[in-house]
Amino acid sequence: MSTKETLIKKLKEKEARVAILGLGYVGLPLAIVFAEAGFHVTGIDPDSRKVDSLKKSISYIPDVKTADVEKFVKSGHLMATTDFSVLKDMDAVSICVPTPLRQTGDPDMSFIISATEELAKYIHKGVVVVLQSTTYPGTTRELLLPKLGTEHGLTVGEDWFLAFSPERVDPGRTDFTTKNTPKVMGGITEACGEVAAAWYEGAIDIVHRVSSAEAAEMAKLLENTFRMINIGLVNELAIMCERLGVDVWEVIDAAASKPFGFMKFTPGPGLGGHCIPIDPLYLSWKMKSFNYNARFIELASEINTNMPRYVVSRVMEALNDRSKALKGSKILILGAAYKPDVDDVRESPALDVIGLLRQKGAAVEYHDPYIPHIHHEHDGWKMDSVNDMMQAVKDSDAVVIVTNHKEYDYKAIVDAAKFVFDTRNATRKVAKDSDKVVRL
Ligand SMILES: NC(=O)c1ccc[n+]([C@@H]2O[C@H](COP(=O)([O-])OP(=O)(O)OC[C@H]3O[C@@H](n4cnc5c(N)ncnc54)[C@H](O)[C@@H]3O)[C@@H](O)[C@H]2O)c1
Repeated sequence: MSTKETLIKKLKEKEARVAILGLGYVGLPLAIVFAEAGFHVTGIDPDSRKVDSLKKSISYIPDVKTADVEKFVKSGHLMATTDFSVLKDMDAVSICVPTPLRQTGDPDMSFIISATEELAKYIHKGVVVVLQSTTYPGTTRELLLPKLGTEHGLTVGEDWFLAFSPERVDPGRTDFTTKNTPKVMGGITEACGEVAAAWYEGAIDIVHRVSSAEAAEMAKLLENTFRMINIGLVNELAIMCERLGVDVWEVIDAAASKPFGFMKFTPGPGLGGHCIPIDPLYLSWKMKSFNYNARFIELASEINTNMPRYVVSRVMEALNDRSKALKGSKILILGAAYKPDVDDVRESPALDVIGLLRQKGAAVEYHDPYIPHIHHEHDGWKMDSVNDMMQAVKDSDAVVIVTNHKEYDYKAIVDAAKFVFDTRNATRKVAKDSDKVVRL
C-alpha cells in the first residue's frame, strides 16, 4: 500500500493519532469532536493553564461541557500537554493558533510560524497536516509547505499531506456547531485534499472539498468580508437615517420582510471579535503585494472603525439635549463582550467606546456578567465590572447598551435609568416610545 492508502485506512479506522495545536475557542471544540468520533486526540498548547485545566477535566470554553471533557479524558480519547515532542508519534495534526493583527494593522503570523517551527522538528512520513487558522490566501503553500516538507526532503502529496480548512465556529451558537457546520477543505495537491477529507469526514457531518488550499483560504475570507461589508453598509445607513430623521431599525425590518434577495444585517457600535474586524484585512494586506487596493474592504473598515466615535458623539448630543455635558457625567456601559452571551472581549467596540468616553472626561463604569475585568494593555487602563448593576443604572447620567446580553432585564433598566443610549435596539420591545431612550 502507498503512504496515502495506509494513512487513509488508519484515519477511516480511527487508528490515526490526532494532535490539535492550539486549544482555544476553535481547537478545544474540534478536539472534542474528534474524540467523540473515536480518535485518540492530544491537544498541545504552550498555555499551561489550559493544559492543566484539561488534565483536571475542566472546560474553560463556554461551548464545551466539562462533562464531555471529563468523559473523554477518562476514556483516554483526550489528552493535553505543553510538550510538542509528542508530535513525533502523530498521524494527523490540525493547527488552530491565533492570527491577530499587529498594532500597524498588518497580519501577525508569529503564532502560525512558531507552531509550524515546532511541528517541523517532528515532521515525518505518513502525516497529514491541516491549517485551520484564518489567514491570507497563499499561507499554506508559501509558509507551511517549505518549512514542513521541502526543507525535510518530503514530497507533499506522496510522503505527507497538507491542506487548509477554514474554521467557521460561531461561539455561543447551539444550532450550528463544529460537528454540523459544513467544513471546506482544500489540499495542496489532489491527494492532500483526499487524505484530509478522509480524516475530517470521520468526525464532521459534511466536508465540502475545493480544488486547492488557496480556494479554501479565500472562501473563509469571502464569508467574513461579506459580513464586514454588509455591517459597514447598515452602519452607514444608520448614520444617514439619523440625518434624515428616519428610524433605521424600522427600515431594516421593513426591507427584511422581502422573502428573497435581501439578507438582514443590523447596525451597532462597531465590529468586534477575533474574526470579522481582522480577517478581511489579511486579504487587503495580501492584495497590496499585487499592487491592488481592496476598496470595498477599506471603505467598510473605515465606516466600522468610526462607529465607536459616532456612538460617543451621539451620547454627547443626547446629554446636551438634556442640558448635561459629557465631561463629568457618570456613564454606565452595559455589555463589554464583542457579541451577546459570550465571554470574549477581543476587539470589542466596548473597549473603544469606554476609551473615548474616558478621554472626553466622563466617569465611566461598565457591567458585563461574562467579563469581570478589563485590562486595556495598549491604552493602559483597567476596570472591574460593577457589582450592583441596577444601583449603577440608577446612579448614572447615561446608560449605554453596547452588548445586548439576553439576561439583562431591559424593562427594569429603562425604568431605573435617567437616560439610555441603545446601540443594539435591545429596548425596542420594552420602551418603544420612551423619551428616556435614544437608539443608534
Ligand atoms: N474564535 C472564533 O470564533 C473563530 C472562528 C473562526 C475562525 N477563527 C480562527 O481560528 C484561529 C484560532 O482562534 P481561537 O479563537 O481558537 O484563538 P484562541 O486564542 O482562543 O486559541 C488559540 C490557542 O493557540 C495557542 N497557541 C499559541 N501559540 C501556539 C503554538 N505555537 N502552538 C500551539 N498552540 C499555540 C494559544 O495559547 C491559545 O490557547 C484564528 O485564526 C481565528 O481567526 C476563530
